Amino acid sequence: MIPKELYAKFDLDRGVIEGGTFASRHLSDLNGNFADQVAYDEMLSQGNPLLYTVSSLEPAHGDGQLHYGLGVLMPGKVGDEYFLTKGHLHTWRPAAEVYIGLRGSGCMLLQDESTGDSRLVPLHSQSIVYVPGFTAHRTINTGTEPLIYIGVYPAQAGHDYAPIAKQNFRMIVVERNGTPTLVER
Ligand code: F6R
Ligand code: ZN
Repeated sequence: MIPKELYAKFDLDRGVIEGGTFASRHLSDLNGNFADQVAYDEMLSQGNPLLYTVSSLEPAHGDGQLHYGLGVLMPGKVGDEYFLTKGHLHTWRPAAEVYIGLRGSGCMLLQDESTGDSRLVPLHSQSIVYVPGFTAHRTINTGTEPLIYIGVYPAQAGHDYAPIAKQNFRMIVVERNGTPTLVER
């Protein structure tokens, strides 16, 4: 028998890691995250679509251990801004993270906590994004199919959503002339 912390199967169509937790985020969970609040309210009045799911596994706890999650972010836009995850800093700020793109295409918005400097990094199948510590990160789907990725992070990382909920990212990714474009909020 292989100990269960050493091995897990995942299903890309269901977005599930066997033995992991599963969380769903709908449009109503992202109030305040999109720049165009009028477009957001209008879309929400028509329904409450699923924006993304995360299935996470915590195989072990303590110094040096790792946790990981499988994310599935749907394609779509609120106004001209592409669907996105809430985004967060790690509670333990030095914690970095590696994102491995499995399907679809999009990007990660990275924002240094102390300088506010922003970078937009492509995330798609067969690509890896390294998120340094002390960096707020958000995933954005600029494609037409679900963007699927795995994130691997220190067990001690934790998720701190409060700074983004309070102030949001400085930059947004919108469609301009058919092209994903990074602009000031
Ligand atoms: C974990 C991590 C990802 C995200 C996932 C959903 O540290 O960065 O697994 O949790 O992309 O995004 P949030 O957590 O911002 O809703
Ligand atoms: Zn993270």
